[in-house]
Amino acid sequence: MKPKRVDHIAIAVRDLESALAFFRDRLGLEVEQVATVERDRVRVAFLPVGETCLELLEPLGDDGPVARFLERRGEGLHHICLEVDDISAALGELGAVGVELIDREPRPGAEGLVAFIHPRSSRGVLLELVQKPEDMGR
Ligand code: CO
Repeated sequence: MKPKRVDHIAIAVRDLESALAFFRDRLGLEVEQVATVERDRVRVAFLPVGETCLELLEPLGDDGPVARFLERRGEGLHHICLEVDDISAALGELGAVGVELIDREPRPGAEGLVAFIHPRSSRGVLLELVQKPEDMGR
C-alpha cells in the first residue's frame, strides 16, 4: 500500500458551533460539508485547507467513541486520515503483517469507505484510511 495524501486531520470538539466560531470565523476557513454519522454517534464538519481538510467531530450525546474520547482526554487531535486507492487491499496487507486494526473490513463513512488502525500500532495516533468513491476524486 502507498497512501496518496493526508485526506483530513480530525479534531474532537465539545460543541461544533463554538468550534466554528474559531476555525471558520477567526481562521477564515470555509465549511464544505456538515454531516451526521449516526453509526459513529458524531456530527462532522469538513473545512478544506488546500487538498486536505480539517474535520471537526462533535459527539451526538454522551455515548459513542468521540464522547468517550472527550471525557478521557478533552478536546484535541483525534485522528489523521490517509487516502488510499484500494482500502480492502491495504487492510489485507496491514493485517497480514500484524498491524492492529480496529476495522478488519472497510465500512461506509462520511466521505467514502473507511477503516481505523489502532493507535497501539501507530505510535499513539489513531489513523483512518479512506477510499473515496470514483466520482469524488480531487
Ligand atoms: Co475521519
